[in-house]
Amino acid sequence: MENVTVFNHPLIQHKISILRDKKTGTNEFRALVEEIAMLMGYEALRDLPLEDVEVETPIETCMTPMIAGKKLAVVPILRAGLGMVNGILALVPSAKIGHIGLYRDEVTHEPHEYYCKLPTPIDQRTIVVTDPMLATGGSAVAAVDFIKQHGGRTIKFMSIIAAPEGLERLHKAHPDVQIYVGHLDRCLNENAYICPGLGDAGDRIFGTK
Ligand code: PRP
Ligand code: URA
Repeated sequence: MENVTVFNHPLIQHKISILRDKKTGTNEFRALVEEIAMLMGYEALRDLPLEDVEVETPIETCMTPMIAGKKLAVVPILRAGLGMVNGILALVPSAKIGHIGLYRDEVTHEPHEYYCKLPTPIDQRTIVVTDPMLATGGSAVAAVDFIKQHGGRTIKFMSIIAAPEGLERLHKAHPDVQIYVGHLDRCLNENAYICPGLGDAGDRIFGTK
């Protein structure tokens, strides 16, 4: 699929396997989510715009490329997407952060929005939406719809584990969005949880139940 990257890097696969283990506790889980986001971000941000700046080396003055920091916005889908933000900030500390609050109805699995605050102007930024889980794709599609309604144009979506159903739904609804997935899992179960997955990402990151 065009605009879809599924990572097969051994470091990412190894860390995802530890995340899946139900014996992995909150501390380690959080650290791993951050590390995976950073590894994925390294690849996903390879087309970030650069601008030449003047730097004085010990030898001479030169023009040399630097990332135009104010061009990046990271937008986690609350809650679980928050766990990935610091991994990306480790790469681009000057990025602005927006927030979109969505929760899935436990019965219908449809997303409900409860919060949205995006950096402005949003239209000139590369926007990286983060959410560790792409299950039915309902939350991802709603978040991207919302960002586009607010003027966002260059959007990347990053998730650690995806179900084929969710990946296809997001790609179909927003074929222009570049999607980065750490691992593509088998399917969804009757409660729309990813199999084998890692359980409820928000609960595992924040230690709730
Ligand atoms: C989880 C996850 C995604 C969503 C994925 O959030 O973090 O946002 O479900 O499911 P979908 O692809 O079927 O929409 P949840 O609604 O559990 O909220 P939380 O992050 O606050 O726990
Ligand atoms: N949300 C999660 O946190 N996990 C899933 O498997 C599906 C949706």
